[in-house]
Amino acid sequence: MTESESGRPHVPVLLDAILERVAPVRGVWLDGTMGAGGYTRGLLDAGADRVIGLDRDPLAHQMAREWADERVELVKGVFSEMDEVATDLDGVVLDLGVSSMQLDRPDRGFSFMRDGPLDMRMGDEGPTAADLVNNAPEGQLADILFRYGEERAARRIARAIVRRRATARFETTLDLAETVAANLPRPKPGQSHPATRSFQAIRIAVNDEFGELARGLSAAERALKPGGWLAVVSFHSVEDRAVKRFLAARSDAGGGGSRHAPEREARAPAFVTVGKAVAPSPEEVANNPRARSARLRLARRTDAPAGEVSRRALGLPDPVEGL
Ligand SMILES: C[S@@+](CC[C@H](N)C(=O)[O-])C[C@H]1O[C@@H](n2cnc3c(N)ncnc32)[C@H](O)[C@@H]1O
Repeated sequence: MTESESGRPHVPVLLDAILERVAPVRGVWLDGTMGAGGYTRGLLDAGADRVIGLDRDPLAHQMAREWADERVELVKGVFSEMDEVATDLDGVVLDLGVSSMQLDRPDRGFSFMRDGPLDMRMGDEGPTAADLVNNAPEGQLADILFRYGEERAARRIARAIVRRRATARFETTLDLAETVAANLPRPKPGQSHPATRSFQAIRIAVNDEFGELARGLSAAERALKPGGWLAVVSFHSVEDRAVKRFLAARSDAGGGGSRHAPEREARAPAFVTVGKAVAPSPEEVANNPRARSARLRLARRTDAPAGEVSRRALGLPDPVEGL
């Protein structure tokens, strides 16, 4: 696959920031969001013996066959199940969201600017955005738009979608984008496209992105060896907050309690957080505007037993019923 076929190459975000902080890189790492392989290659160049390259997207695997050597073990799957693939890992990296290749290829159906089939799946399994938009009950559509896209006009847009699909199914991205835009005020100069929030919400629902994140963080906790590194790069404040809360909860020994909160059972912390959130430098943002909202959080696994944190405790929106 050439770059022109796969879209613009994906520029890795905050990779140097990770490598600097986890040096020296040794042993076996798992890249749970391999994409174009920027992190995987970076880890190998920095000294990792082996990297398990995991991605749900067959395109990422097709591309990897061109660059991966025998130190890379390619696994097609979701990162919420990483501990079924490997345990005793020296490090796990997650670079959340969609890749530039996915966003830039109209045939993947993520873009409201360029026409393509209404798909939006990062992988090749499960219902597409068209399945959702053409079949979900109105209330479910409204909940998706409101909870995952913070779209205040969620009910109005859901009603318009249901009215429109009664006469013709939604097949393409522009078709949906136009219906959404027709039901919102015209954007002022400099404002984002009116379908931005709706497309984000539907993409999150189609790929169960919040469920993947909540389960993926716990899966990483089970998969890491004592001393192993967890590095997570997120692009949305909701996701960064979830990572922050997860690490705060899992690096807290509990116990103590206060006048207001009953005594909690003391337990050993599963992680030690390392530093605060890291933002890209102005130079990185100038070279790669996509890096603008990225935040990196890092932690090291202890030898305490793995546990769970509820999705709600991470501050992630509740799952939409029936999805
Ligand atoms: C932002 S890109 C990663 C780019 C990569 N770090 C690089 O340097 O090329 C995110 C990738 O993660 C994959 N992905 C997102 N969520 C996933 C999940 N839950 N399980 C497996 N892969 C996932 C997407 O398919 C996409 O290829």
